[in-house]
Amino acid sequence: MVKIAPSILSADFCNLERDIRRVSTADWLHVDVMDGAFVPNLTIGVPVVASIRKHTEMFLDVHLMIDKPVRYVEQFCKAGADLLSVHLEADHPTRIADALHAMEANGVKKAVALRPITSAKAVLPYIEQLDMVLVMTVEPGFGGQKFMESQLDTIREVRALIDKYNPACELEVDGGIAPGTAEQVIEAGATVLVAGSAVYGAEDPAKAIELLRGSAS
Ligand code: DX5
Ligand code: ZN
Repeated sequence: MVKIAPSILSADFCNLERDIRRVSTADWLHVDVMDGAFVPNLTIGVPVVASIRKHTEMFLDVHLMIDKPVRYVEQFCKAGADLLSVHLEADHPTRIADALHAMEANGVKKAVALRPITSAKAVLPYIEQLDMVLVMTVEPGFGGQKFMESQLDTIREVRALIDKYNPACELEVDGGIAPGTAEQVIEAGATVLVAGSAVYGAEDPAKAIELLRGSAS
C-alpha cells in the first residue's frame, strides 16, 4: 500500500505540535531542511528535528536540501531522523557515498534525492544499498508549486531500476502532489507520496490523507 508523508513545510511553525497531531493518521512525517544555498529558501535545522522527535512517534522522513550534506548527517541522525535523503547534486559522488555510510553507521535509513534536471541513471552507483529514492516533481525550495508532468518519465525510469536492482527500495515523489497527480505518480511506480499544501491546505487534513490513499485504488 502506498504511504502518505505530509510535509510540515506547509504547517504553522508556531503550532507545530498541533499540526503534527493533525496528520497523525499518515504513515510518515516529511521534514524539509533548506540551507539558503542549495535552494533559495531557509527552513529548519537540527534543533527543530530534535524537538519534533520528543513529541511524536511518527517515522521522520528528513529531506536535506543542503550543500555538502555529509557535514550534518550524524547530527540529524542523533536528532532522531528515521530516514535521511541527500541530493545527488549537492556534493561529489564520493562524499555522497560518505553521507550514506554515516547514515548506515547511525542506523538510519538511506535515500538519495533527484532534482528534476537529474537523470534516473544517476542513482545507479548507489541503488543496491538504498532504502529509498526521492524523485522531485517540482524544483526544490518551496511548497505549493505546480506538479511537473515531465517527471513521470523519470519516475518510470527509476521504478525500472528499482525493480531490477533493489525491489524493496521505496520510491518517493515530492512536489505538487494532490489527488489527481497522486494517481499519475502511483501508476508510474511511486510508493511514498509527499504532500504539503494538499494536506495542510485542506479543511480536514485527515480526510485529505485518506483521499490521497484512495488514489491507489
Ligand atoms: C519542496 C519540498 C516539498 C514541499 C512540497 O522543495 O521538498 O516537500 O513541501 O509541497 P507541496 O506538496 O505543496 O508541493
Ligand atoms: Zn521535501
